[in-house]
Amino acid sequence: MKHSIETVCTMLKGGEVVALPTETVYGLAASLDHPDAINKIFTIKNRPQDNPLIIHAASFDQLQQYCAEMPPKFLMLLDTFWPGPLTVVLKADQEKVPENVRAGLETVALRVPSHPLTLQVLQEVGPLVMPSANLSGKPSATRPEHVEIDFGLNFPVLDGGICHLGTESTVICFRYGRWELARLGAISPEELGQVLGYVPCMLPKSMDKPISPGQKYRHYAPKAVLVLDRTLSPETVGVVLGFSDRKYPESCKVISLGSTANAAEAVKNLYHVLRQLDQEQVDVAWVDMDFPKAGLWLTLAERLHKASHK
Ligand code: TXA
Ligand code: MG
Repeated sequence: MKHSIETVCTMLKGGEVVALPTETVYGLAASLDHPDAINKIFTIKNRPQDNPLIIHAASFDQLQQYCAEMPPKFLMLLDTFWPGPLTVVLKADQEKVPENVRAGLETVALRVPSHPLTLQVLQEVGPLVMPSANLSGKPSATRPEHVEIDFGLNFPVLDGGICHLGTESTVICFRYGRWELARLGAISPEELGQVLGYVPCMLPKSMDKPISPGQKYRHYAPKAVLVLDRTLSPETVGVVLGFSDRKYPESCKVISLGSTANAAEAVKNLYHVLRQLDQEQVDVAWVDMDFPKAGLWLTLAERLHKASHK
């Protein structure tokens, strides 16, 4: 249910969980002053307890108290990308960051989002944890309706329209003297490279003791099976998840991600399109994976791979 910004601020200060818009995806917000509200987020999302949360604030001034280090290039990264879709993982001040927020790790993830409504809320209420506003494992929410589908029509939402980036923030962390990517996202590795002087690599994936626990979980998955390889033809599958400027067999129903000329558009549309597959009760979809392996196309490919795992 949509609420005004004033009501949402009052609810957050009173220890309730509400959904807020960001430029990336909608988030489920709880105040750092309310440990019960933070625990409630894990329950209602059905989120594994070992998957930590990002602390969001209106400015770095509100976040500085949580970190115990300032690695090289950190301030340049903030100057370039905040407010915006970059999440930075740093050594935490363990006294200040509640254990359930960092899921017992020694680090904390920090972000200043750029959505004007949520910046107003953060200024008024103070720092908030905000995981994506979807049931764990499901596609993230990029519209208020998506939040209502996952959490019910009565769930409180601040309506900020359609998220203009439509995919999560890029997560980076500093290890052994270098910045590494913990999650691909709305900022491409190449864009980060322009600030860092090198293009950051992906963190190695360690399943037993992951540095970023989100890496090990299934994500973004619709009920439909996504066929990413060429074992089946589009005709046999019947439904194509593809691009508006490509030709597919006439017998196929085509659901479009946008044009092959625009990676940002395809990334922005992805979660809505994955949710559309569920609404239209599609069982199997053949996915056109013929796009470049660079820039935001890497984010699209990664999300599609994760969404295809059953
Ligand atoms: O764009 C976004 O980042 C959205 C919006 C709402 O801000 N939030 C979001 O949160 O995507 P969530 O919880 O769905 O994803 C957070 C990711 C997870 O993969 C988690 O494992 C990782 O960040 N993360 C959080 N804290 C971490 C930490 N201390 N160390 C390593 N990874 C961390
Ligand atoms: Mg998420």
